[in-house]
Amino acid sequence: MKMKIVIGNDHSGVDFKNQLVGHLLSKGIEVINVGTDSVDSVDYPDIAKEVSKKVLEKEANFGMLICGTGIGISIAANRISGIRAALVTNELCARLSRQHNDANILVLGARVTGIELAKSCVDAFLSAEFEGGRHSNRISKIECGCTNGVIE
Ligand code: RB5
Repeated sequence: MKMKIVIGNDHSGVDFKNQLVGHLLSKGIEVINVGTDSVDSVDYPDIAKEVSKKVLEKEANFGMLICGTGIGISIAANRISGIRAALVTNELCARLSRQHNDANILVLGARVTGIELAKSCVDAFLSAEFEGGRHSNRISKIECGCTNGVIE
């Protein structure tokens, strides 16, 4: 089955997102673009929620999120149960976020990471697979909320 990516960004990442969409399409990957496609200000938690929903409902294999730094939108996405959003700035972290952390959303900062490096991060993320084994136990602990939200 064809790989499908759901991608979303705030106003700071429109051009960056468009370039990544072009890159994904050129690799034969289907893309669901949830926007924004305007430079008018939007709130990144809304975009994080929309992409996360589609990932959790398995409308796409993975999500990609972009804001200025990637920080706000990754914080927002990681508040959603079942989402493991990895903010990366290099290929190694992109690859390891799949291999070790089973990340289901790749996050990039449009004001931080150059577009060619970002494309390489996308490629590294998509070509790596979760290794399971010792990492599965750690992912299970994350999915149990580690502490159910309470630090005793
Ligand atoms: C928007 O100006 C900016 O705050 C946002 O894109 C992001 O960098 C937040 O973390």
